[in-house]
Amino acid sequence: MFLRSAALRAFLENGTVSSYLGSGTHSGRGPPMTTPSVTRTTRNTQHQPTRESVPLALWPVAQVSAQHQRAGRYLPDCTTHPGEMDPEVARRIIAEYSRPGDLVVDPAAGIGTTVVEAAALGRRAVGIENEARWLALAAANVEHVLSAKDRPLVELRLDNETAFGEIVSDLAGRVDLVCISPPLGVDAAVYASCLELLRPGGLFVTVTKNSNRNGCLVDVAGTTVALARSVGFGYRQHVIAFRAAICDGDLVARPSNRELTQLRHAHAAGEPIHLVVHEDICVFEKSVAKENHLAH
Ligand SMILES: C[S@@+](CC[C@H](N)C(=O)[O-])C[C@H]1O[C@@H](n2cnc3c(N)ncnc32)[C@H](O)[C@@H]1O
Repeated sequence: MFLRSAALRAFLENGTVSSYLGSGTHSGRGPPMTTPSVTRTTRNTQHQPTRESVPLALWPVAQVSAQHQRAGRYLPDCTTHPGEMDPEVARRIIAEYSRPGDLVVDPAAGIGTTVVEAAALGRRAVGIENEARWLALAAANVEHVLSAKDRPLVELRLDNETAFGEIVSDLAGRVDLVCISPPLGVDAAVYASCLELLRPGGLFVTVTKNSNRNGCLVDVAGTTVALARSVGFGYRQHVIAFRAAICDGDLVARPSNRELTQLRHAHAAGEPIHLVVHEDICVFEKSVAKENHLAH
């Protein structure tokens, strides 16, 4: 989704967004079924095209910039991490797809945005991270953002070559929601571990952003859907997290400084790329039927 889309403007102006917002703050689990169904074609270079219908939703998540979402809550050092999730995105995912008391896991926890927002909403949360410096910053954020009552809801674990398997077997079948911004190079084995973590009926939510390489759009969301389906997840909903503010009837993009720098470099090198102004939130389910099938 690029910012100068007349269709998008029409979509925003005809009331679809506000009608969605009206139903968007429920605390129950599962996709809000009032959103429009679309037929979606996924394309990527590694997998055959797939065509299926899933409910589609549009979440405006950047009325307030990411910087201001963090201001006064998170530590200023957060900007040193190369790919942190916006707090508004994490909060919305937790609120929509889990209930108070549920167990939420982020297997690539970074600076701890998911676990902090989960605990602030009364969920138990486990964050797994393989770089000690980010785990330390996640721990500092937990200390800084959360109240003394909510801090014990969070557990942070350092991943290394052996630890991930142990953590997965420790939590296997007990997790209600796995929420991840997959780091580059994530393969099917990680998705299979996420499936193992979840209880039957548990949800797996990925947040990805399509990128540009050599002037071409890289369909990260399409690859994510194919990988998740390949390990047995059911694809339940697709959410477009729209990272632009709606101001006086106009759209104002909210790119990070990193994205702006990449765009400037690409344009200086003669690459005709656009700013991508959305993230893809894909919602998958560990089906109960699949679990029964595996048990026989
Ligand atoms: C896109 S970032 C996620 C950021 C996080 N959602 C946040 O808001 O802070 C991906 C993170 O996964 C971590 N990572 C990469 N490989 C990992 C692995 N094998 N186990 C655990 N974490 C890993 C990276 O160090 C990075 O911090």
